Amino acid sequence: MLKTNHTEVAVIGGGIIGSAIAYYLAKDKRKVALFEERKIGSRSTSAAAGMLGAHSEYKEFQHVYSFARSSQLLYKELYHELKEQTGMDFEMKKGGLLQLAFTSEEREERNSLMQLPAVEWLTREEAKRKVPHLTDQIIGASFLKEDVHVTPAIASNSFSKGALLLGAEIYEFTKVFSVVNEYSHYKVNITQGSFTADQVVIASGVWSNYFFQQTGLMNAIIPVKGECIAVLNDQLPLVHSIFHDQHYIVPRNNNELIVGATKRWDDWNEEPTLEGIEMVIKKAKEMLPSIQGMRWLRSWAGLRPQTFDGFPFIGEHPEQKGLYFAAGHQRNGILLAPGTGKMIANLISGNPVNSEWVEAFKIDRLPSAVSIGRG
Ligand code: FAD
Ligand code: GLY
Repeated sequence: MLKTNHTEVAVIGGGIIGSAIAYYLAKDKRKVALFEERKIGSRSTSAAAGMLGAHSEYKEFQHVYSFARSSQLLYKELYHELKEQTGMDFEMKKGGLLQLAFTSEEREERNSLMQLPAVEWLTREEAKRKVPHLTDQIIGASFLKEDVHVTPAIASNSFSKGALLLGAEIYEFTKVFSVVNEYSHYKVNITQGSFTADQVVIASGVWSNYFFQQTGLMNAIIPVKGECIAVLNDQLPLVHSIFHDQHYIVPRNNNELIVGATKRWDDWNEEPTLEGIEMVIKKAKEMLPSIQGMRWLRSWAGLRPQTFDGFPFIGEHPEQKGLYFAAGHQRNGILLAPGTGKMIANLISGNPVNSEWVEAFKIDRLPSAVSIGRG
């Protein structure tokens, strides 16, 4: 049962986005309750590789890059803050990411990226000094030193435990069925009954569609299914992630390599396919041929929440005051979670928020030529 029949802010969805929002709201001393229909961080979040790819994914999108980079930087302080508060270690390592280039065109596409201090061009020989088993087919690699990685399910649970320790209420296995605007507050109907909230944040990943429809919005989020495998790496001292053409190999602390990932549009099934696994193995062997000798551990899939332009919806409902959305983070919800949590907490608390970000992420924005079809 619920501890109270009223809360200041109800957050719907306990993936990394809802968990980070609950944490930042609790830090702001808001009375917050988080509702998750399964376990915290168990859906798209636990499927993620955990790369904080501000440079590999966003460099060419001005406002979105500044948001992504600030979120990436927040992780540095959060790592120590959450470890101290919760005792949980979400395994942020310093290896960075090698974005391989197989052709001179790929090298040229990265000219503006290469101007940044956190980025360095490596010749093939230099790249192979860092990862000796890399394929000989590359001409070089961009070394994205700050695109490090974390373990997403632990990060999500660190946020929710941090929120709990700051006074938030966390309800797992509690589905929210509806949110009804009763003018002075919202009535929220859940598995165990109902309660009221002054503000509601929808952070339900691909399942946010359901709430768009209930609140009169035409927006849609499409799942882009990603399939991954894990293999046991007891051969290579690999500390850098390896990335090419949106495929990657990411070393985890416990001698695992996370190998991903496919992109299947509008597929709602959360199980991997043989065809998908074949594809990620093929791409991994192109980058690191010796991976074929490694031992199989497991496979899985998750649904990336994709908006019409590939960028998230973060902000207030255009007509219903006090109703917020934070969904549609596509390939980068792990990277963008701290920035999203902080932005929603600031909007709710009336603190200043970068106006370019408010415009870039508002739910009723118009399509922009630069971003359509991204993903
Ligand atoms: P979710 O994690 O799906 O959370 C939404 C939650 O809402 C779920 O737990 C669900 O159970 C709950 N929910 C839904 N409806 C209700 C309801 N009615 N009531 C209560 N609860 C409800 N991002 C990165 O930044 N770096 C990466 O390296 C990376 N790699 C990825 C690899 C793969 C294969 C995939 C699939 C994704 C990857 N991502 C990565 C993207 C990232 O995983 C997502 O953007 C992120 O997890 C989205 O978080 P979320 O909280 O919005 O969604
Ligand atoms: N960001 C990696 C993926 O979505 O597969």
